[in-house]
Amino acid sequence: MADDAEIDTGFTGRNGNGGGAPNGQAGDVSEDLAIHHHGPAPAKDPADNPAGDHQFVALRGGGTFVAIEATVGARPIILYAGPDMPGVEPAELATLATRQHAPGTAAVPLRGSMINEIGTGISGPSGLVAHRGGQDWAIDLRLEQVEQRGPHAVSICCKDANTAVAVCHDLSIDPATGVLTSSTSIENLADADLELDWCAALCLPLDQRMEKIYSFTGRWSGEFAIEEIDTFQGSIVRENKAGRTSHDVFPGAFAGTPTTNEESGLAAGFHLAWSGNSRLRVDRHSDGRSLIQIGEMSFPGEIRLERGQRYQTPDLIAVWSQDGFNDVSHRFHDYLCDQVLDRRSFAKPRPVHYNTWEAVYFNHDDETLIALAEHAAAVGAERYVLDDGWFGGRRHEDAGLGDWWVSEDVYPDGLHRLVSRVKELGMEFGLWFEPEMVNPDSDLFRAHPDWVLGADGVDAVPFRGQHTLDLTRVEVFDYLFDKITNLVSEYGIAYIKWDMNRDTNYPGSGGRGAMHAQTKAVYRLMERLREAHPELEIESCSSGGGRADFGIMRYADRIWTSDNNDARTRHQIMRGGSHFLPLRVLGNHVGPRRCHITGRKFTMHFRVASAIFGHMGMELDLRAEREADLEVLKAGIALHKQHRELIHGGRFLRLKSTSTTNFIGCVARDKSEGLFSYAKLESELRTLPDRIMFSGLDPARQYRVRMVWPTQNPSLSTPSIVDAAKLLEGGTVFSGAALMGHGIQPPLIFPDTCLIYHLEATD
Ligand code: GLA
Repeated sequence: MADDAEIDTGFTGRNGNGGGAPNGQAGDVSEDLAIHHHGPAPAKDPADNPAGDHQFVALRGGGTFVAIEATVGARPIILYAGPDMPGVEPAELATLATRQHAPGTAAVPLRGSMINEIGTGISGPSGLVAHRGGQDWAIDLRLEQVEQRGPHAVSICCKDANTAVAVCHDLSIDPATGVLTSSTSIENLADADLELDWCAALCLPLDQRMEKIYSFTGRWSGEFAIEEIDTFQGSIVRENKAGRTSHDVFPGAFAGTPTTNEESGLAAGFHLAWSGNSRLRVDRHSDGRSLIQIGEMSFPGEIRLERGQRYQTPDLIAVWSQDGFNDVSHRFHDYLCDQVLDRRSFAKPRPVHYNTWEAVYFNHDDETLIALAEHAAAVGAERYVLDDGWFGGRRHEDAGLGDWWVSEDVYPDGLHRLVSRVKELGMEFGLWFEPEMVNPDSDLFRAHPDWVLGADGVDAVPFRGQHTLDLTRVEVFDYLFDKITNLVSEYGIAYIKWDMNRDTNYPGSGGRGAMHAQTKAVYRLMERLREAHPELEIESCSSGGGRADFGIMRYADRIWTSDNNDARTRHQIMRGGSHFLPLRVLGNHVGPRRCHITGRKFTMHFRVASAIFGHMGMELDLRAEREADLEVLKAGIALHKQHRELIHGGRFLRLKSTSTTNFIGCVARDKSEGLFSYAKLESELRTLPDRIMFSGLDPARQYRVRMVWPTQNPSLSTPSIVDAAKLLEGGTVFSGAALMGHGIQPPLIFPDTCLIYHLEATD
């Protein structure tokens, strides 16, 4: 690698400690991290006598337990990673896991290591593949040192003298959420360069009861689709080389037993905090063990380490629960909010957006945009985002990217008139950028055709008429920083919608693969802008949902979840995204009456209700809406504002839904109130819908139940519970036990109707 002393992708969380221990000193001893010594001398290989003269590390916190056999001179082995088993010590797990010899297999048990490098002899795929021009590839690491990095964090460092490679595994548990973050670093100790083909963040054992894997896939405008994969023999491999987190290969998965559901059962979630290329694999070895590994995927020769250079993987974020998938999501959400997100986004309630894209596309003019701002403010918008089309020659999607100055053809006097009016109306001003991109039809490209990533002699893949700039070049980086920072200062921009609308297929720089360095450069550019403008917020968009991960969330405050504003489809997309990301960061907009992506038409009542759960916004031509619909929109935005503290700060629940419904809720952490959304997306086979079973309440408390949306009785027939329980008036009080154990009959309603219930404890 060029001049980098370290190739460091380590994801450390906002406090720089992976959520472990901000002030922990190496050498601190705490109850949650125990390093045990059993017997006097470390054995060379503990395989034959697992509980004998060995050392162990027990890492505990937030209900998670990681047990590692960590004997100096031997291979470190993860004995267990999962929900805590209080009182259990690693030594007994080592004995309990003593492997039986099977005829026709190696004469000694092949126990692998924390990275299952090739020299361990393990039959499944290795987590570390490196070599020196075809030599030194059978790496076999032995533990040298265990270093405590605080009460909940440990580094386990190994070396292979034979191949001259050093490897450290950094593990840390966030005591508040039980989230395990872990990354691996590898250092070249020899003079000849080390080529690193693959390095997983860790090889984590997967509980053998977890026979179901839930993978997250999709496409543009159909993001976060869940694919359920049954028990298998062999491998599930998900590889992404889109140069962004991607729509189709989200770097993460959930796992559960055949009976795990949202509310109960053994469950786990795994995610790579990285916005570039990735690989996730789950392997069930021939001896029945399952392991999951996840890491950054690089191009051939991309990661080459000179002597003394070090590569560090992005972080694997792993979560376990005994209480089902919702609890795994809660832990991801809390970890993201407490340890990853910048606190600036917590300084105020999440403002309701108005975004101009679907109202005007590239047809910008001051008068129209000011008229839209006035309409938006009138219905309750708090932030106005001027989307694509305001700069350079950007009159269509094939020109202008890279020319980050206000277009004189469209705005002869700059954006000042519009921006002043927006601010006068009490809204913040946000602006769209796609910093990493350039159109060949741009002044920037005409001046610097060599500023793009690519591979010599290979035609660029055409993709939305644009190329990816090479941000690893300092002059490109500086150009972008100067252009953006000047505009932010000039117009007092509060918010950047940071888009990225193409895959980057051959990200070469100077002949070498450069996706790793490019991804880090994007992070750096965002970081520098955030440092320069301490109140600036950033949205990670990437064609909607294409760059939504915990890596980018260190620098972004919101995700544009999907370009698909179809209110019906949006329910599925939001439900999928909620597995990893909380509603406070998931942008959700009211779209036009006829959806531009699917062509379907929806009432304003349904469009509004479908956007209330999320970071709410609008993206439609408000001038084209009927007066009565604007009133409905205004009422819906007011309802969102009334409850947004609950929506953005409460416990989010995915509740039992059928193929025709989506039922979700947000419950206050003290269980004093809840807001639940029941969307009917198709008609049922049966005459009446199933009762809705609320959840997350206190069974011993009484709750007043009201229907707060829609504003009129949606029931298609009488009698109905809406009247009987006065749901649209003062409501009726029921016990938490009855609401959760028996449920409430929903009224018979048309498909594409969404009911919102508010439950408030009466004590
Ligand atoms: C992407 C984004 C949209 C919009 C357009 C503008 O598709 O996801 O929201 O900003 O680009 O070109």
